[in-house]
Amino acid sequence: MPKSRSTKALPAVDTLTKAQAKREWRRLALEIEAHDERYYQKDAPTISDAAYDDLRRRVEAIEARFPEFATPDSPTRTVGAAPARGFAKVQHVVPMLSLGNAFSDDEVREFVERVRRFLKLDADEHPAIVAEPKIDGLSLSLRYENGELVRAATRGDGFTGEDVTENVRTIRDVPHRLKGRKIPAACELRGEVYMLKQDFLALNARQLEAGEPAFANPRNSAAGSLRQKDVGITASRPLKFFAYAWGEMEGRPADTQHGMLRWLSEAGFTVNPLIELCHGVEAMLAFYRRIGEARAALGYDIDGVVYKIDRLDWQERLGFVSRSPRWAIAHKFAAEQATTVLEKIDIQVGRTGALTPVARLAPVTVGGVVVQNATLHNEDYIRGVGNDGQPIRDGVDIREGDTVTVQRAGDVIPQIAGVVLDKRPATAKPYAFPHTCPACGSHAVRENGEVVRRCTGALICPAQAVEHLRHFVSRLAFDIEGLGEKQIQQFYQDGLIRTPVDIFTLRRRDADAEQKLAMREGYGEVSARNLFAAIDARRKIELHRLIFALGIRHVGEGNAKLLARHYGAIDAFREAMLVAAAAITPEGNASEAYQDLNNIAGIGDIVADAVVEFFAEPRNVAALDALLREIEVRPAEQPRQTSRVSGRTVVFTGSLTKFTRDEAKAVAERLGAKVAGSVSKKTDYVVAGEEAGSKLARARDLGVAVLTEDDWLKLIEG
Ligand code: IVH
Repeated sequence: MPKSRSTKALPAVDTLTKAQAKREWRRLALEIEAHDERYYQKDAPTISDAAYDDLRRRVEAIEARFPEFATPDSPTRTVGAAPARGFAKVQHVVPMLSLGNAFSDDEVREFVERVRRFLKLDADEHPAIVAEPKIDGLSLSLRYENGELVRAATRGDGFTGEDVTENVRTIRDVPHRLKGRKIPAACELRGEVYMLKQDFLALNARQLEAGEPAFANPRNSAAGSLRQKDVGITASRPLKFFAYAWGEMEGRPADTQHGMLRWLSEAGFTVNPLIELCHGVEAMLAFYRRIGEARAALGYDIDGVVYKIDRLDWQERLGFVSRSPRWAIAHKFAAEQATTVLEKIDIQVGRTGALTPVARLAPVTVGGVVVQNATLHNEDYIRGVGNDGQPIRDGVDIREGDTVTVQRAGDVIPQIAGVVLDKRPATAKPYAFPHTCPACGSHAVRENGEVVRRCTGALICPAQAVEHLRHFVSRLAFDIEGLGEKQIQQFYQDGLIRTPVDIFTLRRRDADAEQKLAMREGYGEVSARNLFAAIDARRKIELHRLIFALGIRHVGEGNAKLLARHYGAIDAFREAMLVAAAAITPEGNASEAYQDLNNIAGIGDIVADAVVEFFAEPRNVAALDALLREIEVRPAEQPRQTSRVSGRTVVFTGSLTKFTRDEAKAVAERLGAKVAGSVSKKTDYVVAGEEAGSKLARARDLGVAVLTEDDWLKLIEG
């Protein structure tokens, strides 16, 4: 087992060379894989959650600097996941009820009076009350037997929920085993699953870039993330949990609400730190106001405050009316809405070419915050159509000049909740979503079934340039050492490198470039010389690397190899694509060149269309041609069809000592094998290096042949 080191003593990620970073990344990936296995599969973690989080943060920091390390099997993208399955129904032994609401101070006063009357308290007897933020997430029931988590269920209709045990096991705030004293033989604990606002925003950005629908607010995204059939997806989503209640319980460890919260926290749960014990209505209302003021700055959404009678014997006496407890009430925050005029719709172009509309509003205060912009998501949203094709806002479209209701949905990003049609100016016209990119003028297309329209000017669009250049020089593309994101950013800003060809003409355009570079901050003579040497070394490049480097949507390394093998040489590829691009019609593409492309095993409509769209933009072709004048493209190697591993699927795992992962992969592919990232029944061989973890275990479970590196070498050499 790799020994876990504190990441605190490690050098800052900024100071690592690429090779050092890669070594560290590999070590951390293995370490995290081992911890995941112990945590998720064996329920026997060997480090604290905080130490584990540190490891993950370190990997994230390394990948932020070297995004090319973020391969699909990076620990930032995968977590030891269980197989997909449906959700079984779970009956709640104690129903999960809802809370009555109070919207004003007076209603809170009435609540306390009702309680006093019901309990027949003396005039000088004031019930202590626990005041808790009302978390805007989804409630969850967790059953523990002998301290072990045995089942997790959603609330459902309050009586029947869904079994989400495997999904919940991936939430780090939910202990798999209760700690501390007084653990009941069986108990059911409850609380709220939620997502941090910043995590929600980041998730939505990823969703949009991937052409997936965005979530409306953190609560929806928490719910959507929890109820995933593929537990791996849930595991990759940053879900969190606050415990605040319980259902069935044999032998209660405390006799007050605040005592129970303390016990929950000792048992290993996160209990909201803002919770307070209040004596008297004024203290409750002061809490409500304080929380209201703190709300916008909290990391998560809350929609009010919950007051609960502290003494549990009193809670029992008070009991329930219809579906809510008499011993608790939710004091809700006022809806955060305001009306204003939508002055203009702007289109922003994201780093990967997604066109995102933004509403520019006459400034208006919503819930204490001045709002001037609201997200409009995509063109369907503006038309009044939701991601699921159903009408939103009763199907009313949004137009420039409209008076709109602005809502801070769960106080994250302001949204347009509705249009005041009475105030629509007679001159207002339906919004025509642009079909060209506002940043570069290339045509912007929407793929079948996608909500996002994207710029096709991969090589020329300034909005995508830095991202694209970064991709162009990344490890699986041109792999130019010394040109990281920071350098690209700098060169771009200084106007030295705008498109890929500029990398190769830098020295020619400016004879003193190397010297000038050496004078720059962060460079010296050696690194400047090294950079130019690294550039020169790449003037000869394999066809598949070039194709991958073009940054065509959906053309990852695998598809680039398929294309390279099929066309063999750059000229053949370029010519065929130009013929196909010339044949684009709104009805489809009947050209032989297109059919030939589409017939390549592994290339479907979506990929074929994306490639042809790229070549349909003349400036992309011009940029490619300029590049081709500077470099030499090696024809593709055809796989040796007759090797002993051709047609076989192989997975490499653990740390390999005889060759790097990339080498192993390249050799295997050259011999006609398919290299996969995860082990399944279809896997023929698993080549296990040192410290192989869950993939090795899975191979053994499935009875897949496991080879050492030497076995593998013998196999392919024989
Ligand atoms: S106590 C018998 N405490 O609000 C009701 N609920 O409107 C027990 N919620 O379904 C619930 N924060 O999802 C309670 N601190 C808190 C809460 C809370 C959020 C949610 C919960 C519940 C809903 C009721």
